[in-house]
Amino acid sequence: MGTNSKNDWQERSKAWAATSVQGISADDTFNQMIIAETRIRAGEKILDVASGTGNPAVSIAHSMKNDGEVVCADLTPLMLQTARQRAEKLELGIMQFAAADMAALPFAAGQFDAITCRFGIMFPEDKVAVAREATRVLKPGGRIAYIVWGAYEENPPFHVSRRAVAEYLGTEEGPVPARHSLSAPGTLQNILREAGLSKVEECELRYRNKVDDVDDYVTRNLKRSFAKETENMTSAEFSLLKEAVIEAWQPFIEDGILQVPNYARLGLGWKTT
Ligand SMILES: C[S@@+](CC[C@H](N)C(=O)[O-])C[C@H]1O[C@@H](n2cnc3c(N)ncnc32)[C@H](O)[C@@H]1O
Repeated sequence: MGTNSKNDWQERSKAWAATSVQGISADDTFNQMIIAETRIRAGEKILDVASGTGNPAVSIAHSMKNDGEVVCADLTPLMLQTARQRAEKLELGIMQFAAADMAALPFAAGQFDAITCRFGIMFPEDKVAVAREATRVLKPGGRIAYIVWGAYEENPPFHVSRRAVAEYLGTEEGPVPARHSLSAPGTLQNILREAGLSKVEECELRYRNKVDDVDDYVTRNLKRSFAKETENMTSAEFSLLKEAVIEAWQPFIEDGILQVPNYARLGLGWKTT
């Protein structure tokens, strides 16, 4: 993953579109956590920014049972196309889609009950300005929730596969810097406070993703996160790489099931009434 330019994300969105699951996510845990922590209720008007292929927007609309409004916004139109297909599959008529930069939202002030963002705020340069812009479009009394990835070394979904791929290809291994840039405890809370939110909280989110189909999990991960490295591989070469990554996951098999620990941080802020 290189820069955060629109072209860069448009390029990456091809792999995201190809590997995205239709309907509800195969692993919906972080989405359900953000819904619960933000206390999203049916009938509300929600904005999900940097939503990508619709996370958590699709799960939010689903939880609201088609009562309310969910605006799914992202910088990258191709990402939104996949989000729209997922919404259509689930008949989520309350969803709208907007190509929008989270640093300059195309919405009037004071409209949303809650704003969510999963794994997006790490990328823009001025995070406080982004949170301030979200605060502008929030109703008085509304809330904002950001989820960011925790530290690389505590996140096997990244370091296990990156290490195995680097070893297999004989390349350098290391984290994608932007992805973990807000992982230090307290960072999110400070951003929300500096943006002018009245009450702010931060907590850690951890769970084990029990993977039913390891082959499918590793294949999707390789095709999404290592698109450039794998796109010109023959199917025999791809199978060998996949086997190497599956082997690297062996220490995480418990009771015969791959259990992948995930670690993120959630920051929550309320706008003054
Ligand atoms: C890691 S993905 C997360 C997508 C989704 N929220 C999820 O959790 O699967 C980051 C997303 O941020 C979007 N993005 C990057 N910079 C952005 C910006 N300035 N404004 C809006 N979206 C942005 C990208 O297009 C991409 O879809």
